[in-house]
Amino acid sequence: MRTLTILQPDDWHVHLRDGAYLAETTQDISRYFGRAIIMPNLVPPVLTSADAASYRDRIISEVPSNRSFDPLMTLYLTDQTSKKTITEAAKSSIIHACKLYPAGATTHSDAGVNTIEGLYPIFEEMQKTGLRLAIHGEVTDSKVDIFDREKIFIEQYLEPIIRQFPSLKIIFEHITTAEAVQFVQATDSRMGATITVHHLLYNRNDMLAGGIKPALYCLPVLKRDQHQQALIQAATSGDPSFFLGTDSAPHPASAKENACGCAAGCYTGHAAIELYAEVFASNNALQALENFASCYGADFYGLAHNTKTIKLIETEWTCPARKRFGETDLVPVRAGENIHWQVVNEPGEST
Ligand code: DOR
Ligand code: ZN
Repeated sequence: MRTLTILQPDDWHVHLRDGAYLAETTQDISRYFGRAIIMPNLVPPVLTSADAASYRDRIISEVPSNRSFDPLMTLYLTDQTSKKTITEAAKSSIIHACKLYPAGATTHSDAGVNTIEGLYPIFEEMQKTGLRLAIHGEVTDSKVDIFDREKIFIEQYLEPIIRQFPSLKIIFEHITTAEAVQFVQATDSRMGATITVHHLLYNRNDMLAGGIKPALYCLPVLKRDQHQQALIQAATSGDPSFFLGTDSAPHPASAKENACGCAAGCYTGHAAIELYAEVFASNNALQALENFASCYGADFYGLAHNTKTIKLIETEWTCPARKRFGETDLVPVRAGENIHWQVVNEPGEST
């Protein structure tokens, strides 16, 4: 039985939602992660520093008293975002990035950005103040095949942005393609990328062959095997540009298993670090997990590493088929199947 002790990890991309949903998502994510970048796509979205401060308070009120968890807040960019909003956010100690959703790209992105070039004055201010830009990198043109939307986004938008703003710090969120891996590798250290565990564990066959699996439907959508392999190679390579971001995004089972369409988002908050350990172990790269999960993201965001540790052991346990989610329930990734790693201590506790 293999074991692994690593510095307490952080999640650099998560959706906790709000209201009745916040208790479960916060409890799950604060079990082992010390910090998390909290995505702002609430309805209505988190638009200002004041919105972020009150959302942060609501999150903190759901953290069990024996845990320490720091929610790192983000703002949602729209066509109307003002320079003043950015200047204020850059001064705030609780806001760590602004998130760019192309309008219509994904769940709760209707209020997102229609004309990315229109935001250039905002990027200018972010570059000047050091505020990071987190990007959902997919074009929304309905004529572009859904499997190509990330690749085209790089050509149409990311390349011009990095040319125009040479010192803007950018996080290319939840990358899913070999092209994105190559683009991040070819760009200097001002660009980082998060990689989800579901994109490391699965490819589009897992979602589509033998019956569609709603629990695995997310955006950007799972790609073919060769892209999955490129992501595994990037995550386990020791390149500090790539770090952990679960993109755990809960939806009630009724919104995913629905005749009118399946909501996009995979829930991994219940077992994220355990599932990442599975990927790294099965690719003979357990030694690379700590940097990916606990160091490179903090380095990119200019934050100190956590000092507590967690210990993982290789052992089988069965993931529940459903989890409670507010007044309803959700189907997590791996529902009813075995997970092969487990955390055996609260962060910092000796075992
Ligand atoms: O699949 C996704 N779900 N992708 C996103 O970008 C958003 C997320 C959500 O909020 O449900
Ligand atoms: Zn997300």
